Amino acid sequence: MLELAAHILDIAENSVRAGARLIEIGIAEDTASDSLSIEIIDDGQGMNQEEIKKVLDPFYTTKTVRRVGLGLPLLADAARRSGGHLNLESQEGKGTTVRATFGLNHVDRQPMGNIISTLIVLIAGNSDVDFFFKYRHNDRQSEFDTRIIRHEIEDVSINHPEILKYIRGVLDEGFSEIKPEA
Ligand SMILES: Nc1ncnc2c1ncn2[C@@H]1O[C@H](COP(=O)(O)OP(=O)(O)O)[C@@H](O)[C@H]1O
Ligand SMILES: [Mg+2]
Repeated sequence: MLELAAHILDIAENSVRAGARLIEIGIAEDTASDSLSIEIIDDGQGMNQEEIKKVLDPFYTTKTVRRVGLGLPLLADAARRSGGHLNLESQEGKGTTVRATFGLNHVDRQPMGNIISTLIVLIAGNSDVDFFFKYRHNDRQSEFDTRIIRHEIEDVSINHPEILKYIRGVLDEGFSEIKPEA
């Protein structure tokens, strides 16, 4: 079964491909409304009206070689199967926001998966892109920002193995609640 972390990786990779300099990833869990939302905001090239309409078609891609399996239609489907939905907003030249909501405790809601490893993969593979991550559970929120790390490490590259190890430590400590469920 697919995990939400795999969808997040895929959607954030779309943002990278769209030339984003900053990608914001937010996860919010709300027990009172039994909802889980995932939001990915980028400042990439965005899409025009025509592309926005096509993008939820499972056969639409601007890639020449398509990896089968994920993409926006599959995230939309995963959201709907748990009683939620997908919302896509995009402005050409400005950026894109993808928001998926899920029924938090719905039986068909996919498990979270390993969000921390997903973030490390994104940071390690895209050292010139900044990532801002926030996780909220009811009224408790934690945040992580590569711009702060960059400031701390000065001219060392963010994907230096020692820096990635340090980032993993920061994420493990700051987001100890998002443990893989399996
Ligand atoms: N954040 C984004 N910014 C700009 N274009 C996007 C973004 N996300 C998706 N797209 C466009 O929508 C297409 C479909 O995306 P997706 O469903 O993830 O499939 P794939 O990435 O395999 O092409 C992409 O090829 C791209 O043209
Ligand atoms: Mg994609």
